[in-house]
Amino acid sequence: MGFYADHVFPRFMDWGMRQVDSLRSETLAGARGAVLEVGFGTGLNLRHYPKAVEKVVALDPLRALEQRVSERIAGARFPVERVSRPADDHLPFDDGSFDCVVTTWTLCSVEEPVAALSEMRRVLRDDGVYLFIEHGRSDDPTTARWQRRLNPLQRRIAGGCRLDRPIDELVASGGFEIRGLDRFVHDPGPRALSEMYRGHAVARPDRAG
Ligand SMILES: C[S@@+](CC[C@H](N)C(=O)[O-])C[C@H]1O[C@@H](n2cnc3c(N)ncnc32)[C@H](O)[C@@H]1O
Repeated sequence: MGFYADHVFPRFMDWGMRQVDSLRSETLAGARGAVLEVGFGTGLNLRHYPKAVEKVVALDPLRALEQRVSERIAGARFPVERVSRPADDHLPFDDGSFDCVVTTWTLCSVEEPVAALSEMRRVLRDDGVYLFIEHGRSDDPTTARWQRRLNPLQRRIAGGCRLDRPIDELVASGGFEIRGLDRFVHDPGPRALSEMYRGHAVARPDRAG
């Protein structure tokens, strides 16, 4: 970690992620019970969770802007437990521990997204729900080409973020069945970054073990 990664990027990320705050409440409307939020970032989802949420386990290998994040946690209506580790490793939770798993603009930066999704599926209850909003690959060939070209730069300046991940395919590969998917371009913003996949999914019944 260098000066940029430790001090500049977290502020840039917090500012950038506040630009999409208007999309959070609708994405999280179905959250309930015990929630595992993967890629917690700076805690921007906390004030958008509905009343049915009882606790949030906030998983992220990055810890930054601690004072700002602590204030957001202190303002939450439910307990928040932070876990500093990546999701694409074994998660320290039993099978079926959570009623709900959430990712918001996280799968773009996870090194091994299918491994992470498989772990998320393992720890989700059979009757639980996975809620997500992610940016990813465009269906428009010209935009997709630009996403591919810009990937190396984006990865370097934005914490490993890839612009062109096929989010729905990854979610299915991780063992989820998508029950609803909304694809849209969120304006205003660079088109390469604005191709949204918002949806909900359940664990496919062929859960291993
Ligand atoms: C673009 S930020 C989004 C933050 C937050 N979800 C939001 O909506 O504001 C992506 C987050 O994913 C986290 N992340 C990257 N790799 C991860 C991994 N392997 N497991 C869990 N989180 C990861 C990053 O540290 C970062 O906080």
